[in-house]
Amino acid sequence: MTQFEDKYSEYRKAFEEILTEFCNKLNCKPKILSESLKYSLQLGGKRVRPVLMLAAGELLGINRKKLLNFALALELIHTYSLIHDDLPEMDNDDFRRGKPSNHKVFGVGNAVLAGDGLLNTAYSILLRECFNGEENVSAAKYICDCAGISGMIAGQSADLLHENDGEVDEDILNFIYENKTAKLISAAVVTPSILCGGKFYSELSAFGRDIGFLFQITDDILDVEGSFENLGKSVGKDNAEGKYTEVRLYGLDGCKLKADLLTDKCLKILESFDGDTEFLRELTYFVRQRIN
Ligand code: IPE
Ligand code: IPE
Ligand code: MG
Ligand code: MG
Ligand code: MG
Repeated sequence: MTQFEDKYSEYRKAFEEILTEFCNKLNCKPKILSESLKYSLQLGGKRVRPVLMLAAGELLGINRKKLLNFALALELIHTYSLIHDDLPEMDNDDFRRGKPSNHKVFGVGNAVLAGDGLLNTAYSILLRECFNGEENVSAAKYICDCAGISGMIAGQSADLLHENDGEVDEDILNFIYENKTAKLISAAVVTPSILCGGKFYSELSAFGRDIGFLFQITDDILDVEGSFENLGKSVGKDNAEGKYTEVRLYGLDGCKLKADLLTDKCLKILESFDGDTEFLRELTYFVRQRIN
């Protein structure tokens, strides 16, 4: 394992511990509700958002314990967004994280409820954190806004609205990427900043936005060039569903060039920190070169 892989799995392990504890405590009635929540949460996934949060927290010198519940809430929100994103009336995807999508196993009605349940529980976790001081209230509000109707939900709404549009407009495309993907990824690195009084706020916001865009571009590239085996989700769907993607606007080569430019932008922002940014630099390269 490289030093980067070591560190990634160390952050990931810290996160999986709190997630496992959360899943073990789930005891919903009816039981199918716990089962459908756990099914999607425990399928796997890269846990990029929690890893980013813990890494940004370390850069700022925050005690990891202060962040874990925020990381849990963010991953719950992300997982809910995936369950709903896969529904037949949205992207109609039968596979997620290498297994049949939630609605393929539990049915559409239960999948809608599982998503609702994850979002609602995330709010409850964030509300509990609000008892720990004003900075926690601001951080919780920030995550809610990134997930909400001026954030991820707005991006998903625009993604649906513009499906099958003949022409692709750059401003609309930027709106979709910024909201459906970049805001939740930004929340991962901005939350630690808010929790320590706004330290490096503008740098981390800019880094989060750029790595979020990069993440969605590489997702779109992988939809064309990736494999089901590596990704754990169907490929070729964006074209089949007439999705509004950068691949349609710039072509594959144009996207790769843009991804390289965004990578450079992220690395440049990291130069302005006085701490050890090696892991975040490597994570940026990972997002650019990822195959899953
Ligand atoms: C997929 O996110 C949805 C996008 C925003 C592109 P991830 O690629 O982070 O999915 P998991 O969590 O690893 O399954
Ligand atoms: C999803 O974008 C963004 C979300 C908010 C879930 P995609 O629809 O491209 O994500 P995948 O490819 O299904 O993971
Ligand atoms: Mg989608
Ligand atoms: Mg999708
Ligand atoms: Mg995609």
